Order: sequence, then C-alpha cells, then structure tokens
Amino acid sequence: MLFVWFGVYNVAATEKHWPLTTLLLKVVKERSIQVRSKAIVMPDTLPPEYLAKGAEDYAAMCAQCHLAPGNSASELQRGLYPQPPVFHELEHKTHKPGENFWVIKHGIKLTGMPAWGSAHSDEEIWGLVAFIEQLPDMTADEYRKATVAGAEMPVDQHNTSSDQHGH
Ligand code: HEC
Repeated sequence: MLFVWFGVYNVAATEKHWPLTTLLLKVVKERSIQVRSKAIVMPDTLPPEYLAKGAEDYAAMCAQCHLAPGNSASELQRGLYPQPPVFHELEHKTHKPGENFWVIKHGIKLTGMPAWGSAHSDEEIWGLVAFIEQLPDMTADEYRKATVAGAEMPVDQHNTSSDQHGH
C-alpha cells in the first residue's frame, strides 16, 4: 500500500522495465495469445475485396504505429513502449495468422495496441492478417499501389460500424 501511495512505481513510458520484467511480460503475453488463438484457422477463401480492404485499412489504421515500406518513421511509433513490431522489416514470421487475428481483434492490454474487433468484421480482420503477411516482400512502390487500389475498391457487405465513418 505504501509503495502505491507514495507513487514509487514510475508509470512513464520512457522508464523501461527491468530485463527480467520484460522477459516475464513477454512470456505472459505470448502464452496468453497462443492459448486463446489455438483454434483460430485462417479461412482458405477470403473474398478478394477484403484483401484490398485490408491494404486500405492498414494504411489508414495501422501504418502510423507499425510503419510500412517507404514509411519508416513516425512520431507516434517512436514514443510507444513497448514498441510496435515493424512488419515489413521482420526477417521471419513471429506469429501464426490465427495469433495475429486474435491480437487485431482483441488488442493487447497496456500496450497501445487497440482492439479493432469492436468496429470491424472478422472478414475485414482476416484481410488485415493477409495483408500483414505480404508486407515483408513488398517494395514502397507496391505498397503505395496496393493501398491506393484498396481505397478505390468498394466492399459490398460492409455492414459493420466502420460504415458510420461515412465511406
Ligand atoms: C497506437 C499504436 C498502434 C496501432 C494504431 C496499431 N497497433 Fe498493433 N501493436 C501496437 C503495439 C505497441 C504492439 C506490441 C505490443 C507488445 O509488444 O506487447 C502491437 C502489436 C500488434 C500485433 C502483434 C504482433 C507481434 O509480433 O507482437 C499485431 C498482429 C498488430 N499489432 C496488428 C495491428 C494492426 C493490423 C493494426 C491496424 C488495424 C494495428 N496493429 C494498429 C500498437 C499499435
């Protein structure tokens, strides 16, 4: 109680955890995600319009934090702790599609990673998962084309609350 009352614990994002705490938090996070996403399997047939929508959504909602080919720094990304992974620079896949799906849908507590499931359908989230998988091989030019094409492609059954943003 005294520890809490006297404000001993520094909640500043600039104050890094001890290495042991970082390791522990990482294990807690990884196991939490693995256990909850075990049964989630990527559908074999994702309508192509959702892939295009995934590209557009990524540019609009994720690139500020996770960056993108040709977009290698942002003020928001720099200030976050823990740091968001930079998908296009990942040398090998760290997570299964089902794990990424779960994280995108539910977010990660106390990290800055939002839960997108409250305003996006499962199909839209799979579109994002599929797009993230393609990022490591993508050039800045391909990224620009994909996200512009995504923005121009209508998604018919767009019946989630993301419609309310007026597009
Ligand atoms: C405000 C910043 C922010 C935004 C916006 C954001 N993320 Fe994140 N995301 C994070 C952070 C921070 C983490 C890492 C948390 C950690 O290490 O515990 C993360 C983790 C993830 C992970 C887990 C991958 C891994 O290797 O740990 C996925 C997948 C992900 N984000 C996808 C997305 C997608 C898709 C979007 C857009 C729809 C998005 N994020 C938008 C901050 C953000």
